Amino acid sequence: MTDAVPTTMPAARIHAFGGPEQVVVEAVPVPEAGVGEVLVRVTAASLNGADLEIRRSGFDGYFSPPLTLGIDLAGEVVALGPEVDSFAVGDRVHGRRSAAARGTHSAYAAMPADELTPTPAELAQVSAAAVPVVGLAAWQSLFDVGRLEAGDRVLVQGAGGAVGHLAVQFAVYKGAHVIAVDGAHAAARLEALGAHQVLDFRTDDVPAAAGNVQLVVDTVGGPVTAASLELLAEGGRLVTLVGEPDQDAAARRGVIATTIDSWMDRHELARIDELLAAGTVTVDVATTVPLSQARRAHELAETGEVAGKIVLENDT
Ligand SMILES: NC(=O)c1ccc[n+]([C@@H]2O[C@H](COP(=O)([O-])OP(=O)(O)OC[C@H]3O[C@@H](n4cnc5c(N)ncnc54)[C@H](OP(=O)(O)O)[C@@H]3O)[C@@H](O)[C@H]2O)c1
Repeated sequence: MTDAVPTTMPAARIHAFGGPEQVVVEAVPVPEAGVGEVLVRVTAASLNGADLEIRRSGFDGYFSPPLTLGIDLAGEVVALGPEVDSFAVGDRVHGRRSAAARGTHSAYAAMPADELTPTPAELAQVSAAAVPVVGLAAWQSLFDVGRLEAGDRVLVQGAGGAVGHLAVQFAVYKGAHVIAVDGAHAAARLEALGAHQVLDFRTDDVPAAAGNVQLVVDTVGGPVTAASLELLAEGGRLVTLVGEPDQDAAARRGVIATTIDSWMDRHELARIDELLAAGTVTVDVATTVPLSQARRAHELAETGEVAGKIVLENDT
């Protein structure tokens, strides 16, 4: 550990499940980088749907408090653990924790080196922090699981959301015909991002307007998942990020339905970074909030009125 690294740091934590009032920013020890890990001074870290779910219920008890929230981050390497040769002190990096690990809503985080990738110079730290979870979820839904090909018709449910707006842009980049479904508030933005059809789930007849599609990426869940099965051509694929699709209904329709639990892939994140750095793709950051006011970020997210990512900036 370098001299400049303190022994304690602020971290956004919960001691019990509940609403935003459960989020406290308190001093905890700075972790040490273990074997294969680097210590990152966090510059910015985003709020994801999973952080809200963990704060509310720990994903039905999978996580237990006390814990430090946060899955993805952007920052600078300040120390190397043993057996790390892929990074050097001073490198700008970003990435995301694996499914079971948390703790990036803090001033420092010890991360396995393979959960990080270098941040291109063209990418601001706030954008770099916003993209790992939602960018990889969009990419993997479309390509790893959804097997999207150029010329396919793909429909994105929740297209104006954090995952959805990236899925729209990746699918346009791939050369698919992209149908973006969300509320009226998102329509102009989705057209600007290149969607070929933009539908309002509240007022449009989505099945009639969409026709049969090869792939649905569902970022909404609930009744939207069931309705999505009906939009698929025979042999089509539904990839949902929220909940479990009805496999009997999928079999009756002759389609494939899968739930995705996205993962860190440094090569895929580097590919996404290239698109961001080139300006081919943009990530919408709605607002930034100082880490010391992490509770306010949760309050903002719970209003449901913030379109785009909320990013915590390390103000310590
Ligand atoms: N499984 C994974 O690996 C993974 C990874 C990342 C995220 N997720 C999950 O994916 C979900 C979406 O995340 P996000 O960050 O993209 O959320 P978000 O930013 O809140 O986006 C959701 C979007 O869906 C829209 N919407 C609501 N009801 C709709 C409907 N009936 N039809 C079409 N669109 C509708 C919302 O519009 P309004 O604002 O008008 O309501 C909003 O624009 C969350 O539950 C998150 O936890 C899962």
